Amino acid sequence: MLLLIEQASFEDLEQVKRLNERTLPEHYTDSFWANALASFPEGFLVARDGPIVGYVMSIIKRDNARSLTEQSYVGVIASISIEPEHRRRGIASKLLKGAIEAMIGRNCNAIILQVRRSNISAIKFYLKQGFEANTVLKGYYQAPSEDGILMSKPLNKVFV
Ligand SMILES: CC(C)(COP(=O)(O)OP(=O)(O)OC[C@H]1O[C@@H](n2cnc3c(N)ncnc32)[C@H](O)[C@@H]1OP(=O)(O)O)[C@@H](O)C(=O)NCCC(=O)NCCS
Repeated sequence: MLLLIEQASFEDLEQVKRLNERTLPEHYTDSFWANALASFPEGFLVARDGPIVGYVMSIIKRDNARSLTEQSYVGVIASISIEPEHRRRGIASKLLKGAIEAMIGRNCNAIILQVRRSNISAIKFYLKQGFEANTVLKGYYQAPSEDGILMSKPLNKVFV
């Protein structure tokens, strides 16, 4: 089946949540999912191969590192996951590219995320996408308890 990347709809949220629950230890409340979709729909994408086989949920935050007088924002990858049997097909790369384009459209200067220190496949994926590892976040994760890595990538307004 042809892979389709498109903006998620509210009807997709149940499938997306089930994929998240099967594949990641970090889960979110119904209102968090719905608010993310309502406030930044173009940064909340699904990959369909028939059913949904992957998603990326992103959010926009004020960039506190910059002057408060400047309108400056960062995009945050809140969650991304691909069905295990559909990994290494470039699906997460396509979803991330779409989220980055949406972030640039919202004037974000950078994209940031946190990842578990032991999540080597995700760290390799982000490094391949041009992210760098910035800081170890001691004890950032619970259940199971683990350090996080803060990763980021500047967003060039012309080249993605
Ligand atoms: C991390 C994840 C999203 C990557 O999704 P994916 O669709 O398989 O990624 P892509 O096919 O776009 O991979 C692009 C590149 O990233 C790197 N990469 C991806 N998965 C990798 C792995 N398991 N080991 C090493 N490198 C990997 C490779 O360089 C790959 O290119 P290649 O296949 O040509 O070698 C996926 O493994 C996943 O859903 N993991 C579980 C959820 C998760 O950990 N999310 C991140 C939380 S922060």
